[in-house]
Amino acid sequence: MKKIVFISAIAVLGIFAACKKEKTSATTSTTTTTKTASSEASFNCTESVTYTATIKPIFEAKCMPCHTGEKPAHRIDLLQLSGAQAAVAHNLMCTITPGGPCPKMPPTDNKLTETEVKTIECWINNGMKN
Ligand code: HEC
Repeated sequence: MKKIVFISAIAVLGIFAACKKEKTSATTSTTTTTKTASSEASFNCTESVTYTATIKPIFEAKCMPCHTGEKPAHRIDLLQLSGAQAAVAHNLMCTITPGGPCPKMPPTDNKLTETEVKTIECWINNGMKN
């Protein structure tokens, strides 16, 4: 009889511990989801994202040290709209997206911020306006 009480006590404890664990992980994942949602909400993709006003300054700061001038790296010249559009056809989005099979751009420590990547993606999705 004593043995049965002991075993069921352990079982109850086990169930309790399992519940507690589940609760903790549920809370953690809720927090993560909220964070992602709010950082996405902070970037607003609008029609006002254009090459000249928005994209060129990003490329100037982070890409043009290599991708313009007399011998642009990989013959990708980002100084003009037409060159930038051609680069999009040459895996540009893939090179600035973490993970994935393309060489990562820029190859230096001067990385694009998450917002800059989203801004470029927005510009592409809106038809790469000048
Ligand atoms: C330090 C010099 C340097 C900087 C800065 C740089 N690139 Fe590059 N990029 C290269 C070189 C070198 C290659 C040739 C591919 C390789 O790495 O083998 C290349 C290749 C590429 C390619 C072609 C990839 C392919 O798969 O064909 C794209 C697109 C590109 N870069 C875009 C960018 C963009 C956008 C930026 C800025 C966010 C950037 N690069 C910044 C040096 C640079």
